[in-house]
Amino acid sequence: MDASPRPPNGPGDLAARSLRQVWHPCTQMKQQAKLPLVALSHGEGPWLVDTGGERYLDAISSWWVNLFGHANPRINAALIDQLGRLEHAMLAGFTHEPVVSLSERLSALTGGVLGHAFFASDGASAVEIALKMSFHAWRNQGHSDKREFVCVRNGYHGETLGALAVTDVALFRDAYDPLLRHAHVVASPDARQACDGETAIDVARRAAAELDTLLTQREGRIAAVIVEPLVQCAAGMAMHDPEYLRLVRALCDKHGAHMIADEIAVGCGRTGTFFASEQAGIWPDLLTLSKGISGGYLPLSLVLSRDAIYDAFYDDDTARGFLHSHSYTGNPLACRAALATLDIFADDDVLASNAVRAARLTQALAPLADDPRAKHFRHRGMIWAFDAVLPDAPGAAGAFAKRFYTEARARGVLLRPIGATVYLMPPYVLDDGTADWLATQTLAAFDATMQQEVAA
Ligand SMILES: Cc1ncc(COP(=O)(O)O)c(C=O)c1O
Repeated sequence: MDASPRPPNGPGDLAARSLRQVWHPCTQMKQQAKLPLVALSHGEGPWLVDTGGERYLDAISSWWVNLFGHANPRINAALIDQLGRLEHAMLAGFTHEPVVSLSERLSALTGGVLGHAFFASDGASAVEIALKMSFHAWRNQGHSDKREFVCVRNGYHGETLGALAVTDVALFRDAYDPLLRHAHVVASPDARQACDGETAIDVARRAAAELDTLLTQREGRIAAVIVEPLVQCAAGMAMHDPEYLRLVRALCDKHGAHMIADEIAVGCGRTGTFFASEQAGIWPDLLTLSKGISGGYLPLSLVLSRDAIYDAFYDDDTARGFLHSHSYTGNPLACRAALATLDIFADDDVLASNAVRAARLTQALAPLADDPRAKHFRHRGMIWAFDAVLPDAPGAAGAFAKRFYTEARARGVLLRPIGATVYLMPPYVLDDGTADWLATQTLAAFDATMQQEVAA
């Protein structure tokens, strides 16, 4: 007799089984019951294929993680090789080639400025680590009063309690507010806030001036300022001038605070350079990385730190060490996927080919720049965004997002607007034909959604 557990229904009921047993992320499950889940069978390059054979272009790289397509043969081969060697071992007291090589290569990408890598799994864990490291480094250096953090309005750094404390997105934060240790929130440098006659640099300077005031008021109390370099993604792809990062760097130096660059979403080539901070010509004290670093294959996050921070923990006294750990810290499979990802960057000159790819998609999306129903059409690297012009009514943005998602999905494209902001963050494998097709479908989905707006 076959004793293996069997699902109550056949595979065709995958979506129904999922709704019965799986608690989906970032989802009000009662609403999900009304909008059918997409039950996936497999992935092929930039495409996700459902159990009925329908294809969806993954135009948001599955929450910004996938860089070189699904089931990428080169990353697959690296993982298969690694599976035959070592799947996992604890990193305390042990080490292995993938974690060492990855640390060496990432440090080299910062020109050796960020000398050590501390590993975790999800982005939020890396943010927790960076916050703890900053506070503890100051304490070890005799500055235990530096225990406050500064974050940017509408910024997002993850949803564990420490990361949520430096996140300013009401939808994710408000319910848990009583549990949080509050951070200072300063103005965003979002270039969309430019008044008449102002440039993005003016907005950046204005935001930095507010930070300067705060750091002066709280002199000696601030451990770190955390920023999302160049693009505040979860805020709705709010983009700013690199000048802001230069000013934050200078202010952190002036006031004796660490600068944490959260490059979880914007790192790994997403903004056109491998690290977004490079475009400002600065390095932070701590840099968090996750999402694309494993090619979107496995949960991997890390914090790169300056040697001065590392040295603050290097001591005979155990308690002065950074004793943080996660069971899967430095997982060899995840590190090997990351090494294969870095190999693709180097072998295929990905940053250069992305520049060509980006120019094509920008041109194909150009009609949005003149569409009176859209505003702030913007682009940086492999990120595009625009905001729908909607009636100023409560719930309008949410309703738009749902309608647009449905329209895009019906056209075979996975796009999930953030409120009124439609954005594209595709994997770095779109060929010309697919890029043109994506632009056509995006424009058509927008058109159809806005016609419903008018009819509603
Ligand atoms: C800038 C930034 N930081 C942190 C996170 C949290 O990462 P994770 O979802 O892996 O915890 C995200 C996720 O979107 C992010 O965009």
